[in-house]
Amino acid sequence: MTFPKDFLFGGATADFQCEGGFDEGGRGLLTHDFVTAGAYGKPRQITLTLKDGTRGSAGVRDELPEGAVPTLFDDTYYPSHQATDFYHHWREDIDLLAELGSTTYRFSMCWSRIFPTGMAQEPNPEGLAFYDQVIDYLATKHIQPIITICHDELPNALAIEYGGWADRRTIAAYQHYALTLIRHYHDRVKYWLTFNEINILGGYAALGTHKQDPQTRYQCVHNMFVASASVIRQARLIDRNLQFGTMYMMSEMYPASSDPQNVWAAYTTRREACFFFADVMSRGAYPHYTRELFKRLGVTLEMASDDLETLKAGTIDFLAFSYYRSGTVTAENGLLNENPHLQTTPWHWPIDPLGLRYCLNELFDRYQKPLIVIENGLGMIDKLENGQVHDQYRIDYMADHLRAIRDAITLDDVPCFGYTMWAPIDLVSLSTGEMKKRYGVVYVDMDDQGHGSLQRIKKDSFAWLEENYRSRGANL
Ligand code: BG6
Repeated sequence: MTFPKDFLFGGATADFQCEGGFDEGGRGLLTHDFVTAGAYGKPRQITLTLKDGTRGSAGVRDELPEGAVPTLFDDTYYPSHQATDFYHHWREDIDLLAELGSTTYRFSMCWSRIFPTGMAQEPNPEGLAFYDQVIDYLATKHIQPIITICHDELPNALAIEYGGWADRRTIAAYQHYALTLIRHYHDRVKYWLTFNEINILGGYAALGTHKQDPQTRYQCVHNMFVASASVIRQARLIDRNLQFGTMYMMSEMYPASSDPQNVWAAYTTRREACFFFADVMSRGAYPHYTRELFKRLGVTLEMASDDLETLKAGTIDFLAFSYYRSGTVTAENGLLNENPHLQTTPWHWPIDPLGLRYCLNELFDRYQKPLIVIENGLGMIDKLENGQVHDQYRIDYMADHLRAIRDAITLDDVPCFGYTMWAPIDLVSLSTGEMKKRYGVVYVDMDDQGHGSLQRIKKDSFAWLEENYRSRGANL
């Protein structure tokens, strides 16, 4: 009962959580560069200069006040600026991935490293050269890249000048960026993800707009759908062998009870929060429940005359998804992180390996396209003692989830072709900006304020994962 021979094993990361080098190599400012660190129950903030010239801030998911301009302040720590400094540690980090027995590495390119403002015609040659050396070095280690073109981010200048994804000019900017990458790297990169977690639907950093009402959010997402589909359509003319997917977050799951009200609420919540996005991108059309959804939310989309045709022509080849936890839904309170049958992490994420098998089956039932588990892992507080981290909890988590994937493949015949755990080398948490929420099998010596030697130290889970990657799960 091992994983199939060509199954891809590896790790996944996002640029602004690990790369750093925010003012090096000609990189422009990214929307994430203005986001502070937070903690559980203390949302991260975007620092601002308000219309009247005073200093302010807004939560990462909130509307920004009208006229406010994201601004950096010297007295504030911004985790994306240094992150865990992959920019200067990439060779060492890839060596660790190779030692782990990885056959793939999923990472995102930083849009503002390639197009610093997002608006110029010519890419930044230093940006392309940075990823050239990363990709070429991966090739020497027989590690296949999977590239996320856009991981919840955009060049800040695009947000300021255009209002981000709320404006159709951002579609053209994304097309130019994505096709520049594809033309440049297509001979070395087969798998591409047009967006990360496109279903998170909000926040200045991901959408680049001050407004966060449903009308604006769904208009942004429509523009992203069109951008993705048009890039896929054009990329197929560049290289027919390329494979395109988009990544979805898949946590909304179960009714909190067998009360039909809760069952219906869970069904519709899951459809709206997850499937709506995959339905459009995988089937190439808005689903039948769109009219009811948009009526209820007061959304009227602005479309160009050929948008629907573009969506049809640029469907994805495979589905990628992140799976960390499951949630329960009640008619009264919506999505909850509570399930009496499950243990939770210190960040209150329920641990549910069977939910992963459920997701794999559910997605394949619905779309009949190949699947990849592109993020999965356990965020925990690790203790470094005498140069060691004993993280049996992480081993247990990964073993249970890998077994769930193996069951879906071998027992249920679901075509899942890869697993990239989040994140092989500790990096900054997206939701809280903390460092202490660690996912890696490699510890990075850095604290929540960015202090530390940045030294990489293998945890106990490293040897365990290596054994299982190399034996294709023979000892799970
Ligand atoms: C996914 C994101 O939502 O979850 C990652 O694609 C993120 O960027 C990961 O890091 C884990 O979430 P967090 O908040 O624990 O970092």
